Amino acid sequence: KLRVLSGMQPSGQLTLGNYIGALKNYVKLQITHDCYFMVVDLHAITVPQEPAALKEQSESVAALYLAAGIDPKAATVFLQSTVSAHAELGWLMTTLTYMGELERMTQFKDKSAGKESVGAGLFTYPSLMAADILLYNADLVPVGDDQKQHLELTRDLAQRFNGKFGETFKIPQGYIPEVGARVMSLDDASKKMSKSNPNAGSYIALLDAPDVVRKKISRAVTDSGREVKFDPANKPEVSNLISIYTQVADKTIAEVETLYEGQGYGPFKKDLAEAVVTVLEPLQQRYREIRESGELHRILAEGKERAAEQAERMLKEVKTKMGFVVL
Ligand code: TYM
Repeated sequence: KLRVLSGMQPSGQLTLGNYIGALKNYVKLQITHDCYFMVVDLHAITVPQEPAALKEQSESVAALYLAAGIDPKAATVFLQSTVSAHAELGWLMTTLTYMGELERMTQFKDKSAGKESVGAGLFTYPSLMAADILLYNADLVPVGDDQKQHLELTRDLAQRFNGKFGETFKIPQGYIPEVGARVMSLDDASKKMSKSNPNAGSYIALLDAPDVVRKKISRAVTDSGREVKFDPANKPEVSNLISIYTQVADKTIAEVETLYEGQGYGPFKKDLAEAVVTVLEPLQQRYREIRESGELHRILAEGKERAAEQAERMLKEVKTKMGFVVL
C-alpha cells in the first residue's frame, strides 16, 4: 500500500476550502492507502496562540477529521506535538535548509508582510513540514494548491539529504485536486478562502450553522452579469462558486452551467447553499457526537502510538546516517 501523510493547522475554524482542497481527499485515500493524518499544532504556534484556544482548536480539528469520515481504524489520526520525532527531525532539516529557500516561500512573505515582529518559527516552518512528511516516507501528500511550494522544498530537502548521507528518504508527490485546489474568498475572488480572514463573511466554516451558510452564500460577491458560466479570467467570483458547487454536489462544471442556463444567479446561489448545507449538516451532527462521546483522547493516544513507532524508527536511521551517536 502506498503511504499518505497530511495535516492541518489548528489555528482557527476549518473552512470549506480546507474540506474541498484536502479533507475530502483524506477520506477518499484512506480506503486504498496507508494514511497518517495529523493536527499540526507545532505549526500553529508559528503565529501567537492563546493556550486555551490552541487546545480547543486542536481537539476540534481532530474531531472534524473524524466527523468528515476519517475512520481511526483505517487511518492513523494524531497530534503532531505528541510525537516528539517531528520537532527533532524538524531541527535536523532546518540545518539542511538554505535561508534563500525559506525567503522565497510565498506563505512566509504573505504572513510576515507588514508585521513588526515575526517569529523565527514562521520562517523555518517549511523545514518542519518537510520533517512531517519525510518521517513517514510518504508517497503522496494530499494538499491544496497553496502548499505546492512547501512540497517542492520537501522534495529538494529529501534529495539533498539522500545525496549527502545516502539513500534514506522517498521523494514524496503532491496529491492536488484538479478542481477545488484553490477555493477563493466569497468577498474577494483574488484571495484564497482562509480561516484567518477577519471578515467571517469571506469564508464558510465547517461548523457554520445552516442559516449562516445560506446567508453567506446569498451575500457572496458576483458580477453585474447574469450568466452562470465558468470563466475564471473574466468571471472569477461566479467561477469560484461553480467550482465549489461541483465539489459539494458531485456535478461537472458543464452540468452546473446547463442547469442554470438563462436563470441568473438567484436560483444558482440558492441551490449551491442547499448543496453545501447537505454536506455540512451530517458532518456537524457527527462532530457533536464525537465531542460528546469523550472518545477523542483515546483515539488520539492510539494514533500517537502508531505514528511514534514509525517516526522513531526513521529518526534513528537519519541520526545514524548523520553521524550522531545513537544509543
Ligand atoms: P493549512 O492548515 O493552511 O491548510 C490545510 C489544508 O487545506 C488546504 N487549503 C485549501 N485548499 C483549497 N482552497 C483553500 N482556500 C484552502 N485553504 C487551505 C491547504 O492546502 C492544506 O492542504 N503547511 C500546511 C500544514 C502542514 C502539512 C504538513 C500539510 C504541516 N505539515 C505535512 C501536509 C503535510 C498548512 O498550513 O495547511
